[in-house]
Amino acid sequence: MLLTLAASRRVLFVGGKGGVGKTTVASAVAWAQAAAGRRVLLVSTDPAHNLGHLWQRRLGPDPQPVVARLDALEIDPGATVEAHLAEVGAALRKLMPPHLAGEVDRHLALSRDAPGMHEAALLERIAQLVQDGLTDYDLLVFDTAPSGHTARLMALPEMMAAWTEGLLHRQQRSERFGTALRNLGGDDGIGARALGGGEARTPGDRDQAIRAVLQRRRHLFAHLRDVLADPTTTAFVIVLAAERLPVLETIELQASLARAGIDVAALVVNRRSPADAGAFLAGRRAQEQVHLDTLHDALPTIPRQELPLLAGDVVGNAAIAAFADLLARGG
Ligand SMILES: Nc1ncnc2c1ncn2[C@@H]1O[C@H](COP(=O)(O)OP(=O)(O)O)[C@@H](O)[C@H]1O
Ligand SMILES: [Mg+2]
Repeated sequence: MLLTLAASRRVLFVGGKGGVGKTTVASAVAWAQAAAGRRVLLVSTDPAHNLGHLWQRRLGPDPQPVVARLDALEIDPGATVEAHLAEVGAALRKLMPPHLAGEVDRHLALSRDAPGMHEAALLERIAQLVQDGLTDYDLLVFDTAPSGHTARLMALPEMMAAWTEGLLHRQQRSERFGTALRNLGGDDGIGARALGGGEARTPGDRDQAIRAVLQRRRHLFAHLRDVLADPTTTAFVIVLAAERLPVLETIELQASLARAGIDVAALVVNRRSPADAGAFLAGRRAQEQVHLDTLHDALPTIPRQELPLLAGDVVGNAAIAAFADLLARGG
C-alpha cells in the first residue's frame, strides 16, 4: 500500500513520534522507488539525524548520491538559521543606511534565538528544496522530526504567507505615500539619502529591493502551501507503534494536520509482534490489537499497513533493501 502510494506521488512526508521507525520507513520507500527507476531525493529534517547512521555514510546539507538514482541530505537547523540570518542581514544592510549597520547586527543577534526562528528557517529550506527538487527529482521523501514539531511546521506556510502578504501591503502603502510626497515636492532627495544610504539609492530603488525580497519569499511559501495541500502531488504518512501513547498521538497529529489542510494518506504500524513466536509475543500482539482497534475507531478510513517486529536493527543498504521487500508485501 505504501509503495503504491509513493509511486503515484511526487512528495512524501513521513511523520510520527520519535523512535517509531520514520527514518527506516522513509529510507526503504526511497530505496524501493529508486530501484523502480525514479530519481529520488531523501531529506531528513529531524535535528536528531539518523539518516547517515542508517545508510552508513556521512551526509551533509546538500544532496549527495547514496545509491543509483537516490540522493540524500540532512538539513542542519542550526546552520540553516545562520544561512537564513546571513541572507536577511545582507539584504537589510543593502537597504539600510551604513550608520544603522549596528542596529541590523543587534536585530539579527536577537532574532537568532527568537521563538519560531528555527521553524521559519527550516521551512524556508524545505520550501526551497521542494521548489528545486520537483524539477530535479521524480520523488521527494521527507523524513520529518517528531510529531508536534511537524504539525507546527505544516501550519507555518499559511502563517508565513499571511505575514509576507501583510508586509507587502504595508510596503505598497508606504510606496504610494512616498510617491505622493515626491509629487508634492516634499522629497527632494534628502529623504532619499537618509533612507537609502547612498546617492544611487532613491526611495524607489529601496522599495523595489524590499519588494523583490518579499515577493521571492511569498512565491516560495505559496508554492510550498500549494504543494502540501494538493493530495495528488503530496502524501503525508504517519508511522506509529501499536501502543497506547503512539496511537493517541497519531490521532492528535492527524487532527492538527487536518486543521492545517493536510490529509493523512496512510498509517504505517511498525514493529507488529508476531503471532507465532511463543506465548509472550502472542500476548503482546493481542495487547497491540486493542490499541489498533482504538486507532481504527478514530480514523476508520485512512489506509493502514503493518510491518513486523524484526530481531535486529535496520542498518546498511542490505537491511534497507530487506525492509523495502517487507513494505512491498503490503503492496
Ligand atoms: N520493524 C522493526 N523491527 C525492529 N527494529 C526496527 C524496526 N523498525 C525500525 N527499527 C529500529 O528502531 C530504531 C528506530 O528507528 P528509526 O527509523 O530511526 O525511528 P525514528 O526515525 O522514528 O526515530 C532503529 O534502530 C531501527 O533500526
Ligand atoms: Mg529518525
